[in-house]
Amino acid sequence: MGKKLFISNKDNSFKKTILIDGDKSISIRALLLGSQAQGKTFIENILLSEDIINSINCLKKLGIKILLNKKNCSIYGNGLNGFKFKKNIILNAGNSGTFARLILGLLIKSPYYIKLVGDKSLSQRDFERVIVPLQKIGANFRINKKKTLPLKIIGSNFTNPIFYNENRGSAQCKSTIMLAALNSPGQTIIKAKKSRDHTENFFKYLGIPISVKKNKIYDEIKVRGQKIFKSFKYKVPSDPSSSAFFIVLTLLSKNCELKIKNVNVNQSRTGFINILNKMGAKIKIKNVKKKYGEMQADIFVKSQPVLKKINCPSNLNSNLIDEFLIIFLVAAKANGISSFSNLGELNKKESPRLKLGSKLLNHLGIKTKLTKDSIKIYGNPYIDLKKTINIGNYFKDHRIFMTSVIAAYVFGGKWQIDDVDSYKSSFPSFLKIIRELGYKFKLV
Ligand code: S3P
Repeated sequence: MGKKLFISNKDNSFKKTILIDGDKSISIRALLLGSQAQGKTFIENILLSEDIINSINCLKKLGIKILLNKKNCSIYGNGLNGFKFKKNIILNAGNSGTFARLILGLLIKSPYYIKLVGDKSLSQRDFERVIVPLQKIGANFRINKKKTLPLKIIGSNFTNPIFYNENRGSAQCKSTIMLAALNSPGQTIIKAKKSRDHTENFFKYLGIPISVKKNKIYDEIKVRGQKIFKSFKYKVPSDPSSSAFFIVLTLLSKNCELKIKNVNVNQSRTGFINILNKMGAKIKIKNVKKKYGEMQADIFVKSQPVLKKINCPSNLNSNLIDEFLIIFLVAAKANGISSFSNLGELNKKESPRLKLGSKLLNHLGIKTKLTKDSIKIYGNPYIDLKKTINIGNYFKDHRIFMTSVIAAYVFGGKWQIDDVDSYKSSFPSFLKIIRELGYKFKLV
């Protein structure tokens, strides 16, 4: 039996400056690209979460030496396609969809079958989305009917550069093909619906031949492959998706003020701040600087008693895909009916988050109207719960767990929340920061 968290006291006020753990997307990309660089790469402030530890263990199995010293990570890359491994290895990506999909892009030349497995949640997620374009490049797969993990991949000596139309707005799909392009001859061209652009920024920072033409809805990305690149130094900024929990907690509490330092404020990640400000929050982004090809800044937020409903423009969806659950909480406390559409992808995350987000709000007594890809939330600014709420074990979804904790402190009531360990996959300092801000909970 996993641990349970009990929360029964929401009253608190704080004025604090905090530091959030390193960005998950960037930490995974830093490891993958460090493994393909020539020589010793040095990464500071890497996220030390379960997803990252699993990623490191997989890369070690592929023959890459990696040393961790607290949040400093040294990766001894063997250059492009420099993995060295025995037959029949098994890579376990745990809960990490990002690592599981992106690593496949680096295995398109593997001389032997490699088995890729994941935990229960990851084993229910779709891999067809990356298998189809990787097959066109030249990789071969052994895969079940549902196109989920476990799967086996074997590469080819004859890989092709492809034209790939990525139309989900998925950074994972786009990045998998960009990584495969590193080992393909000639030019790979990707027409990609807008999504987080950390892989593009990283390629530019490392001098990998890439051109990106930004359009309104789609970007055109061209990568020239088989160009070796040197090892590098990098410092990972704090994760905006993890920061979002504390931004919302501050906003929806009384008399609180928070400063979060050195957060990644890449525009493809800060859609949730735009949404919150449209709803009446006055979140400020200050001290903006470009470092290692990414924008970082300090974020300032204060409690805001009255928030407005939002009709969320769906072109923003991929700029806040991981923050929708916490935005739904804000909509639950806003004045009026908020609506969110074109969100089918949200049901394909670590858990069916659109469905479960709606279910969570219903537990709080908030009315929702749910379809397979949209939700309407009937907000109630006066909600103050007295009842007991049990949140069960939802597929080990870290963001469901953390959203539930924030809901408990904002809406009151007596909460029992299962699946405590899940937050360690993305944000290991989450409960420590909750305590630092003066909140109480019991872990049993
Ligand atoms: C990620 C991309 C997003 C996001 C995930 C991290 C990445 O997934 O949900 O948490 O690092 O590329 P999709 O690309 O599938 O939308």
